Amino acid sequence: MAPRRPAARTILPRAIFALFGLGLLAAVVTAWKLTDRSVGGAGGLGGELRLVDQDGRTTDETTFRGHWRLVYFGYTFCPDVCPTELQTMVDAMDELGPKADRVQPIFVTIDPARDTPEKLKNYVGLFGHNLVGLTGSVPQVQAATRAYRVYYAKSPGADADSYLMDHSSFVYLMKPDATLATVFPAGTPSDVMAKGIREAAGF
Ligand code: NI
Repeated sequence: MAPRRPAARTILPRAIFALFGLGLLAAVVTAWKLTDRSVGGAGGLGGELRLVDQDGRTTDETTFRGHWRLVYFGYTFCPDVCPTELQTMVDAMDELGPKADRVQPIFVTIDPARDTPEKLKNYVGLFGHNLVGLTGSVPQVQAATRAYRVYYAKSPGADADSYLMDHSSFVYLMKPDATLATVFPAGTPSDVMAKGIREAAGF
């Protein structure tokens, strides 16, 4: 008697389970890579951000010289995750007290089509704490997101201007030489972030 072929109703759940497993594996591998303390430097995650700030000035290796940097990639039209993470960053800066002078919080847009310097200037002003907003040409933003291994993709909206962006959500703590010190996943409380910054920076 020939073995019976598995029924379609058992194949579909297995296929879904397998896909879920693959997705989970990819997420774990990504998280492992992002938290690997050995990355940074040539070919590692990070690097100087060559973009345009909220006042239209280009940024290069001299702009944030000597400062630790707290870097987040998102977009101003984001309904929830981006404002939450940026608020956490400025709350962590508050908790650092005077040491906050040694850390530059930076918001980099993944949506340069809508996030002009003027738009960013208004937006970062809502958060205060000297939060810098960076945008640039599409190639400039692509170079920055590649260097920081940021995932993002356009998600169609009701009309051409109301689209959303799917994007990875990590707060990167960068050393003064623009190499990675550590990564805070989305949802990290501000006191944990402040403690992580103090430990990494030694202050
Ligand atoms: Ni967002």
